[in-house]
Amino acid sequence: MNPRSAALPGILAGAALSLCLAAAAAAAEGAPAAAPAPKGLPGYAGSPSCRECHPELWRQWSMTPHARMLRDARKDPEAIVADKFSPEIPFRKKDIFYTIGSHWIQKYLTVIDGEFFVLPKYWSISKGDWEPYSIFNWRSKPYSLNCYGCHTVGFDPVSKTLVEDSIGCESCHGPGKKHVESQDPADIVNPEKLPKRLADNICEACHTDGNDMVDGSFPFAAGFQPGRPIEEYYSEFFLPKPGSKKWYKGNATYEDRHRMFMFYQAEFYSKMRACGV
Ligand code: HEC
Ligand code: HEC
Ligand code: HEC
Ligand code: HEC
Repeated sequence: MNPRSAALPGILAGAALSLCLAAAAAAAEGAPAAAPAPKGLPGYAGSPSCRECHPELWRQWSMTPHARMLRDARKDPEAIVADKFSPEIPFRKKDIFYTIGSHWIQKYLTVIDGEFFVLPKYWSISKGDWEPYSIFNWRSKPYSLNCYGCHTVGFDPVSKTLVEDSIGCESCHGPGKKHVESQDPADIVNPEKLPKRLADNICEACHTDGNDMVDGSFPFAAGFQPGRPIEEYYSEFFLPKPGSKKWYKGNATYEDRHRMFMFYQAEFYSKMRACGV
């Protein structure tokens, strides 16, 4: 483990720190200091800023898997559900910086040279044991390029930085800075007021699979904004039809779980606010 990354306070710090070091190096050489580190797409306020005026929705959301997707294992060691750490496991508990997921499986993030990587074994919660994961190529798949888009808020595919870990209020409501200042409902996306197709697109941006339209290097709808048609962000997007090969089967495979929400969608919408699923 790299000692300088071991002191990183948060997930953004990885990118921020390397930029700080670059800026310090540049300053030492007498070159102009680098611009401040960009942090995700513009216009976002972050979920904590919604709490004051929407306390009940905040409370519901904070209990969902969406809010708890990524957890800081250093601040909160209880987040790690795996318990069989032995010399056969190719990493130690202390190598884990963040946990990903909490109900089906749990994967583990480490930091190497300021970049996040998913460690090569994951914990199956139902089996109560380890499963192999990208054993041979885990170092070639940085988390930022392969996963951020669906597990964070406001990921900027150009600077590869983000606004907030996990799935926050603005993942479904779009950038909220203007609304926080104005309190005007017109300044924020309310999915209920969108045509159904566009409202569904918000969930589909993460609960389907496909490739981006930025440069085809992201396996997610990079840059997607709630309220926009998903076809603008996903190449060759099509919705699985009931009974088709891509439809939900209930076999709990990775692909299937990503589609599961389509199956349950009607139920979620009929019983509760989507902020609380
Ligand atoms: C300073 C107070 C305040 C803050 C902070 C705030 N809101 Fe609001 N929000 C309001 C008010 C007031 C309304 C209008 C309520 C009404 O019309 O019943 C509203 C309405 C909404 C609506 C419904 C819009 C519509 O068209 O019906 C959404 C969605 C929303 N807020 C989301 C958010 C999100 C997401 C955040 C954080 C990024 C946030 N709000 C932060 C005050 C706030
Ligand atoms: C296209 C969007 C998308 C991308 C890209 C994506 N995920 Fe996910 N991920 C999801 C969705 C949606 C779920 C929820 C469905 C489920 O429970 O499996 C999920 C669930 C998970 C879970 C299980 C959570 C649990 O509680 O059981 C883990 C772990 C996970 N993802 C890790 C990753 C990693 C690592 C990557 C990158 C290699 C990645 N995901 C890329 C959308 C995505
Ligand atoms: C920014 C990406 C993103 C958006 C947008 C999103 N989700 Fe999710 N969703 C995820 C991820 C990632 C998980 C996995 C969380 C975990 O297991 O820790 C998840 C988990 C879920 C789960 C729990 C699934 C399970 O395995 O039990 C439900 C239900 C769900 N989402 C419904 C929705 C609905 C409905 C919408 C739209 C209103 C939506 N999601 C929008 C990414 C997203
Ligand atoms: C997974 C997507 C998702 C997340 C995350 C989410 N919402 Fe929502 N929200 C929706 C949808 C969809 C609606 C439309 C009503 C419905 O279908 O539940 C909605 C409706 C609302 C409304 C207007 C309706 C009402 O009940 O007043 C407000 C305000 C709101 N959300 C605020 C928030 C805040 C604040 C957060 C974070 C604490 C949040 N939402 C997180 C999807 C989401």
